[in-house]
Amino acid sequence: MTLIFGIETSCDETAAAVVEAAADGKLRLRANVVASQVEMHRKYGGVFPEVAARMHIETIHAVAREALTAADVQPADLSAVAVTHGPGLAGSLLVGVNFAKGLALMWDKPLIGINHLEGHLYSLWLSEHADSLRFPSVCLLVSGGHTELILVRGHGEYTLLGSTLDDAAGEAFDKVARLLGLGYPGGPAIERTAREGDPNAYPFTLSDLGAERPYAFSFSGIKTAVMRAVQPQPAYGKRVRGEESLRAGNLREGVNIADAAASFQAAAAEMLVAPTLRAARDHGAAAIWLAGGVSANTYLRQQLVARTDLPVYAPPLALCTDNAAMIAAAGCFRYAAGQRDSLALDVLPMLALV
Ligand SMILES: Nc1ncnc2c1ncn2[C@@H]1O[C@H](COP(=O)(O)OP(=O)(O)OP(=O)(O)O)[C@@H](O)[C@H]1O
Ligand SMILES: [Mg+2]
Repeated sequence: MTLIFGIETSCDETAAAVVEAAADGKLRLRANVVASQVEMHRKYGGVFPEVAARMHIETIHAVAREALTAADVQPADLSAVAVTHGPGLAGSLLVGVNFAKGLALMWDKPLIGINHLEGHLYSLWLSEHADSLRFPSVCLLVSGGHTELILVRGHGEYTLLGSTLDDAAGEAFDKVARLLGLGYPGGPAIERTAREGDPNAYPFTLSDLGAERPYAFSFSGIKTAVMRAVQPQPAYGKRVRGEESLRAGNLREGVNIADAAASFQAAAAEMLVAPTLRAARDHGAAAIWLAGGVSANTYLRQQLVARTDLPVYAPPLALCTDNAAMIAAAGCFRYAAGQRDSLALDVLPMLALV
């Protein structure tokens, strides 16, 4: 049996978890502790990096201790300490990586650096579908900072098929929510508000990215279309500065916020679904996987399921956004593959999956 202690601090969640891998590779989540800083960042309308790093420092010790207690394991029982070392905010990553190094040294355990994006992917191995996962599969990785289509050919074997040309999907949800005065974080707020709205009320047309980019995504056009539809139009000849145009809740009279949220969500989902189906078909995928914060979106999940005969697998809702369970899960596979990192492990804020 393998027991991995995982740590995640790449953005604004301070998290620690313990995952057990049986001899047959089956994973079991023993403890999953997440301390979210969302309340602190809400007043800034997004993550304030300096504040995030300082809050990780204040919280990480208690979070790690709670995870050990909840898992009912002694440090001596652990096989290794796995930690996110990129991509993410440099200051935030440094807290987790240095804390993990301290633990590895104190407990005399190997240290394993994990790519946060690979972590999102391995949240699927903690789902009820873990036994059904087959290669090759196409994974739509949709989060706050990334929107990528990845062909997963085996454990740790990835081909990048396409990615966003501008904003990440989660970033677009957050910006549009801000525009509609729905607050932060935007994804859940848009999804909630959209339930009362008509997805066909506003025709937010999608950019045509051309046949030569069949697996690319773009959200800036949809975002601008929402802005044009809901904001007061400036007087003739008056220029609107960027920050003014994005001012929260600066809405034209008569705008139906629920309709706007539902129409944006439908357009964003369509932008995500079409290239994903194309990629799955073109590459003979056994299934379509979803991962990352935006994969919590029920409308997106339903659209994918409705439009393909392939199985669609997504992580449990609680493991879509950042957590350490997914880092420990990826750590189990990296440990089995023999990965061991030295105490010189560095943070890599721009680390890519492929
Ligand atoms: N139900 C939802 N519908 C749409 N978007 C959602 C939903 N829940 C969360 N999100 C979005 O997911 C994003 C957060 O996801 P995640 O925690 O994976 O991102 P991140 O860690 O900041 O970015 P990355 O993983 O790329 O480094 C936010 O942009 C949030 O608005
Ligand atoms: Mg993430």
